[in-house]
Amino acid sequence: MDPHTLHRLREACAAEVRTVPGLETARLVFGDGNDQAPLLMLIGEAPGQQEALQGKPFVGKAGQNLTAFLNAVGLSRDELYISNVVKIRPHRVSAAGRTVNRPPTREEIVRFTPWLYREIALVRPAALVTLGNVALRAFVPAEANIGECHGRWTEALIPGEDGRTLRLPLFALYHPAAVIYRRELTAVYQADLERLRATLPNVASR
Ligand code: URA
Repeated sequence: MDPHTLHRLREACAAEVRTVPGLETARLVFGDGNDQAPLLMLIGEAPGQQEALQGKPFVGKAGQNLTAFLNAVGLSRDELYISNVVKIRPHRVSAAGRTVNRPPTREEIVRFTPWLYREIALVRPAALVTLGNVALRAFVPAEANIGECHGRWTEALIPGEDGRTLRLPLFALYHPAAVIYRRELTAVYQADLERLRATLPNVASR
């Protein structure tokens, strides 16, 4: 893929975001990694504080978890492309006056999802891995739940600009931050990643 094309997409997204009241100065965090038809594209929810500071997805605590999990099954971040549904940091001011992360709103998800679809069409991964419910629901019916879908392959439907639907294999994982709050998920996460690794050759050979 021509790197300028992805760059142009990023610029177009940034230009649109600057027109949204309240987001004029928001820092855009686009995808990062191997954007030349990688085997996998990982998709999270939205950037947090560290991601907004560094301008890259998954570089904070959840990102460290993610990297460790990937390495444990022999997947390197460099081979993958990593992005988020929402490209700005959703935040609020806490009672103590600190700026803290918050989950993205429905409006934010709806605003950024078409940009994610365009990003996928340009990066052309062989398969998607969604991290958590927000990313999963960008591709499957809204009532789908990570508790039922994790650890297995399903099909992602990605509406194209030309009216056609791109279909890609999708493997659902819990969000790596969930493991920070729910330690009991660690073993589940490892088993899911092991299944992902074991079934990847089938995806690669398509
Ligand atoms: N959580 C996400 O969903 N994305 C990031 O980039 C970081 C944390």
